[in-house]
Amino acid sequence: MAVLSEPFRASYLEWFRTMRTGDLDDVDVPVMLDAAVTELETLQVGHRSGRIGEAGLAYGREQIRGLLEQVTTQGSVSAVTKNRVGRLIMDRFQPELLDLPGRYTQDWFSYHEAHWLDHFGQLAGRPGLQAVEVGSYEGRSACWIANHLLTGAGSRLICVDPFDQYEGQERNFDHNIRVAGCADAIVTLRGRSHQVLPLLPEDAFDFVYVDGSHQILDVLQDAAMSWRLLRSDGILVFDDYEHTLFPDSFGMSAGPAVRAFLALLAGQYELLFEDWQVALRKR
Ligand SMILES: C[S@@+](CC[C@H](N)C(=O)[O-])C[C@H]1O[C@@H](n2cnc3c(N)ncnc32)[C@H](O)[C@@H]1O
Repeated sequence: MAVLSEPFRASYLEWFRTMRTGDLDDVDVPVMLDAAVTELETLQVGHRSGRIGEAGLAYGREQIRGLLEQVTTQGSVSAVTKNRVGRLIMDRFQPELLDLPGRYTQDWFSYHEAHWLDHFGQLAGRPGLQAVEVGSYEGRSACWIANHLLTGAGSRLICVDPFDQYEGQERNFDHNIRVAGCADAIVTLRGRSHQVLPLLPEDAFDFVYVDGSHQILDVLQDAAMSWRLLRSDGILVFDDYEHTLFPDSFGMSAGPAVRAFLALLAGQYELLFEDWQVALRKR
């Protein structure tokens, strides 16, 4: 019995043919992603009902993962779309894809690195930069920010996180910033952002990355408090601004709250980019 459904297999072969000729484009990809997500769910249902065994499930998942990974190699697909595909791969297949030294169980960041270098790489080497990250988890994004943007003398990243997602999260964070060689540039403040951010000085920070709670009111609060921390010309980035592909997998999008916040601040910022994440510069 075939593991993948008949319609999916037919489309699958067609997509591979299109990729082989280099003709897959941004319009094709959302259809493929929807079909891949539905098929993954169908596989799970089949597995739970006993219709598909462990090996069949693993095989089906590998086929779908192979298809999605192929998309990320296509020259005809935009970086933003590849980013979306990458996020889906990370979300659905991530344990196999964590390749950094250190103790990581999740990767929510590596697909942004090239994009961030393009947009924020000019910060690297500037002395005395001050940055804040709301939501650090195991330090993956924090290490990247410290090692790629805050490389100038005296630069510093304040990481705000309650570290209560799992037993040992903070130990892994501490370990990871040590092995990445950036522990001296990072100050950890354990707690929720609404408790910690009011303790920081206003108009004092060059860069704030918000990737903490995705509850609407928390995002609004983070946005308002982060805005106050930023000095003029400072950069504010929100993760999970668009999060429509897999809404059931890790909660909700920051989009509605961020959009409301941006509407209130019209004219007071320059929009740097707006896709999976949104970034702005304070005027
Ligand atoms: C998606 S993870 C952050 C991932 C990290 N930025 C990275 O890319 O490696 C979200 C983190 O936000 C933290 N968090 C949740 N609610 C928070 C809050 N109210 N204030 C600060 N951090 C919060 C969680 O503990 C978790 O570690």
